[in-house]
Amino acid sequence: MADPILAFPEGFVWGAATAAYQIEGGWNAEGKGESIWDRFCHTPGKIHNGDTGDVACDHYHYCQADIALMRQLGLTAYRFSVSWPRVVPNGCGAINPAGLDFYDRLVDGLLAANLQPFVTLYHWDLPQALGDLGGWPHRDVCGYFADYAALMVRRLGDRVRHWTTFNEPHVSAFLGYRDGQHAPGLQDEKLALQAAHHLLMAHGLAAQAIRAIAPQAQVGIVLDMFPTETDTDLPEDRTIVERAWQKEIGWFLDPLLRACYPPEALQAYGPHAPHIQPGDLALIAQRLDFLGVNFYSRNLVRNGNLVKPVPGSEYTEMDWEIHAPALRRLLVRLQREYSIPPLYITENGAACPDKVGPDGCVHDPRRINYLRDHFTQVRLAMDDGVDLRGYFVWSLLDNFEWSYGYSKRFGLIYVDYSTQRRIFKDSARWYAQVIARNGVED
Ligand code: FCB
Repeated sequence: MADPILAFPEGFVWGAATAAYQIEGGWNAEGKGESIWDRFCHTPGKIHNGDTGDVACDHYHYCQADIALMRQLGLTAYRFSVSWPRVVPNGCGAINPAGLDFYDRLVDGLLAANLQPFVTLYHWDLPQALGDLGGWPHRDVCGYFADYAALMVRRLGDRVRHWTTFNEPHVSAFLGYRDGQHAPGLQDEKLALQAAHHLLMAHGLAAQAIRAIAPQAQVGIVLDMFPTETDTDLPEDRTIVERAWQKEIGWFLDPLLRACYPPEALQAYGPHAPHIQPGDLALIAQRLDFLGVNFYSRNLVRNGNLVKPVPGSEYTEMDWEIHAPALRRLLVRLQREYSIPPLYITENGAACPDKVGPDGCVHDPRRINYLRDHFTQVRLAMDDGVDLRGYFVWSLLDNFEWSYGYSKRFGLIYVDYSTQRRIFKDSARWYAQVIARNGVED
């Protein structure tokens, strides 16, 4: 007898996500400008194995074939990002018509295949010319971003309803400007905090610009949430958990939803706190039509220390603990403590040691288990009252995993980078069944 089905509500969005720099390639094709990620990858020593996104999955040329794969999977939505320097090579000024045409064809192809486009305007590839100006720590970049957002909405707003301003401003600011692990590779906490503030301001300005052109647009932002948890009742552990929340999640959520930075974290940053001008926080706190949550894993603390590995837990190839119940707890906390708009899981998935077997197939049972566990936990969170509208698996295709290069495979679809051949992994076939049944086996 078939397992009973844990059903999702009708109209629940089942998608997959990608990002421009990670899949497109065509790094200097047809008038595209250089991005800070092009520059970073072309700098020796920055990326594992010297890999770059120059070609990646060559989605710039395989776009229509990739849409056909999405259709085969039965996805109802696709989350992708626009490369700002592909459409505005220097970040401001002259426009690249070939770049705009590419996204135009992508959106038309998606709609023809019955997929809803969810557009992310910024997934980390700032035009290098604006990097030269000072990048996100420079306040003028906010206005340029809003102009670029307006350009995209003018071009695609008649067909695209869901607009996301930023993907993971926390990662952009802190890994790029404080930890040096991402472009532009700086290590300066004060600059990182100023960058974070400007990313949020740019979000506010862009939200206004989008709505001025397309009042029916649904405007959101995507935040990464890698919560720190404890399973003790020790006050010391509770304090660590709360501090981590404020510095990593609240630092972005509170300005967006409450028009203030978490007061204790702000104080703790002391002289590194960002320079905030009157009116900035009101600008940031624009109404959100939805919030995107990217969730992969959690940190666990006990007796004041990070526990790693957590006894009994499995880890993905990113060395991230697999612990799906943390996603349910996270969603419930968001719902309980904030006036939260409808939510989407905009990224969730696992890197596995995928190989093409002698049978020509890619068997990835661990990814199937990972996804099943997380689908189940969000379904339980919905029973707890969380208003979750959809789920985007990271990622549609194996792709360029930032500083890890091509060494981590997150795709539902395997990519042979030497031939650009795509192969459905077992998880892709399994996901297609979940979508077709609108539910997971219990
Ligand atoms: C997220 C990024 C995404 C991908 C996954 C694994 O932080 O948004 O581009 O790299 O991690």
